[in-house]
Amino acid sequence: MVVDVRAAGVNYVDGLMCEGRYQMKPPTPFVPGGEVAGEVTAVGEGVEGVAVGDRVIALTGFGGFAEQVAVPAGSVLRVPARLGLGPAAALIQSYGTAMFTLTRRTTLDPGEWVLVLGGGGGVGLAMIDVAVALGARVIAAASSAEKRAAASAMGAEATIAYEVEDLKARARALSDGGVDVVVDPVGGRHSEAALRAMRWMGRFCVVGFAGGPIPSVPLNQVLLNNRTVIGVDWGAWTFRNPEGNSAMIGDVLAMVADGRLHPTTPAERPLGDAAEVMDALIHRRVTGKVVLVP
Ligand SMILES: NC(=O)c1ccc[n+]([C@@H]2O[C@H](COP(=O)([O-])OP(=O)(O)OC[C@H]3O[C@@H](n4cnc5c(N)ncnc54)[C@H](OP(=O)(O)O)[C@@H]3O)[C@@H](O)[C@H]2O)c1
Repeated sequence: MVVDVRAAGVNYVDGLMCEGRYQMKPPTPFVPGGEVAGEVTAVGEGVEGVAVGDRVIALTGFGGFAEQVAVPAGSVLRVPARLGLGPAAALIQSYGTAMFTLTRRTTLDPGEWVLVLGGGGGVGLAMIDVAVALGARVIAAASSAEKRAAASAMGAEATIAYEVEDLKARARALSDGGVDVVVDPVGGRHSEAALRAMRWMGRFCVVGFAGGPIPSVPLNQVLLNNRTVIGVDWGAWTFRNPEGNSAMIGDVLAMVADGRLHPTTPAERPLGDAAEVMDALIHRRVTGKVVLVP
């Protein structure tokens, strides 16, 4: 089917793909852009359940920074009535990752403490939203006052300025002795401090390395307190388990539709600014999400 793109979500992985540092390496030249929202303008023969004029999200992998995309019918999802096409275009990668992390790779009990690193980024904010919706209490770590304010607005009870404060000590103090779960999309030097901030039976979710270096952690810190380190690769899981992913994304959209999840309204930039926006994202200058508008 053909979708007229009204907004294309920009994610860190788009930048990684352009730099040739992502696990998926499309042959060059290619058009980046992994997720879009828009209106269906044509459907192929035999396609059922989607009609011309429907508002949909399309997962493209790449090719989404465009005015139109041609996508298989199986890769589109209907946009709930109360969700605008801008927020819809910025939703799936961040919330898919968050939901997969916090409901499929680990689970949360109500009242558990979750420490989210990079809490003002796209994945970070989605992690906060999902964790709070599941009844957890969230501490968010972020570099700037603007990002910490965004994390608080999303529901984090406390924030840590992890570039200047002692992450381990502050996280332990705020959570009355240690956090139950760490969500780490950042890596670098903060990972070990976050690991050490976990209490008995804590779970450390490895989500990404936006900070650059892939950290090495002393394994005695995993042994101590019976901690668990959990790898998260949502993308790989979607390929192996498309039905499970559809069900999970269906849950995300239902929770958005009934107000349990609150994706923020992304900043809008013209499609022609794609390179500039990806550069800003890769270099840490973006709070929350940005969509490109053709
Ligand atoms: N495992 C998975 O399945 C999966 C799925 C999707 C995305 N990811 C990964 O999750 C990470 C976050 O993606 P995103 O789209 O949310 O990106 P994002 O919006 O740019 O957020 C990343 C955050 O990382 C922090 N950061 C620290 N050092 C940085 C540096 N040197 N450069 C850039 N950012 C830095 C920044 O927060 P502060 O400035 O506050 O430190 C930034 O807000 C990426 O590594 C991405 O590859 C993983």
